[in-house]
Amino acid sequence: MRVYFDHNATTPVDVSAADTMIRVLRDEYGNASSVHRLGQQAKSIMDEARSAVSTLIGAEPSELVFTSGGTESDNFALRGAAEALEPTGRKHLIATSIEHEAVLVTLKALARRGWRTTLLPVGESGIVSPDALKDALTDDTAIVSVMHANNELGTIQPVAELAAIARTKGALVHTDAVQSVAKIPVNVRELGVDLLSLSAHKFNGPKGAGALWIKRGTRIAPILTGGKHERTRRARTENVPAIAGMGVAEERGRSKLEPDAARLAALRDRLEREILSRIPGTMVNGAREPRVPNTTNISFERVEAESLLIALDLEGIAVSTGAACSSGTLEPSHVLRAMGLPTHRAQNSIRFSLGAGNTDAEIDFLLEKLPKAVEKLRSLTGARR
Ligand SMILES: Cc1ncc(COP(=O)(O)O)c(C=O)c1O
Repeated sequence: MRVYFDHNATTPVDVSAADTMIRVLRDEYGNASSVHRLGQQAKSIMDEARSAVSTLIGAEPSELVFTSGGTESDNFALRGAAEALEPTGRKHLIATSIEHEAVLVTLKALARRGWRTTLLPVGESGIVSPDALKDALTDDTAIVSVMHANNELGTIQPVAELAAIARTKGALVHTDAVQSVAKIPVNVRELGVDLLSLSAHKFNGPKGAGALWIKRGTRIAPILTGGKHERTRRARTENVPAIAGMGVAEERGRSKLEPDAARLAALRDRLEREILSRIPGTMVNGAREPRVPNTTNISFERVEAESLLIALDLEGIAVSTGAACSSGTLEPSHVLRAMGLPTHRAQNSIRFSLGAGNTDAEIDFLLEKLPKAVEKLRSLTGARR
């Protein structure tokens, strides 16, 4: 049996999306900027996808720019807005300490360009408080970037409330919604943001496809310059097969969003409940609500998460850890560290992220294998934490 509980890393491509991509790749090879029929067919395939993806987030199709994924969308939002806003003289950028590296590393690059940056704390809940933003905002703040759902914990940030606060100082608001789109309802107007990033491979679309939603009238400079594609906001010859795949994945995901969310929440809650009751020394990291329905992050006392990941992988179960292995040492995740968790607890944490294909039988399988794996590792490590 192979069980995949790592959907926050990536998801399997929806079969109809893959079929569409193959057909478009093979038959619809026109350049969407070409005037002839093949070109116009490619353009109309893109238009369809643009309208599907914008429906998913309550946006106008013309406000959507297709990108190569979440990382580019985050870069475009922050670098593009920073460049456009620099002439105003406001050079302060606020984000949260639990953002994805696509935001955090971009902030560091902007800091080297003279931007002052502030990272908001989150506390043990893994949720940013509006007061933290109020304290950090200044008249100089040009951009506020707050992720919608956190990739490691699943916790949902109060983006609408934070956006309203940011507006009091006239700051532009970006949200990285890569982990919330197609998991929970996401509506750009209700969130009150100016820029929103999404990525197709997190909702059963292809890798290397995503979008940045840019509210009409928002000042943003392109980061890819050249031709007049995407209303001169992103130059390149479009990857029509990937964009078409994203559109189909979106439509399929949207039609099942609510039933899937309810089913996944029930599966996730059962998994969480059973792990906590069957295995001593286990704790859920971060607030349990508000959280996307598919994610839980659990610490296993006295178990090195990386060893548990490997033990589960040998049983055919794919999960991920809250620690990243860099230069041969286990670095606790910046998210768990930002929550103030002790290093050992961060190093003991496993993320289970469920997806549309998961079943009760797979949870049973995990619950059969996991307690034994934990017990074995604990007996091997003896008194180690
Ligand atoms: C919250 C968040 N933002 C951005 C990204 C990057 O997206 P992509 O893999 O499409 O570049 C990810 C992917 O893990 C993510 O979880």
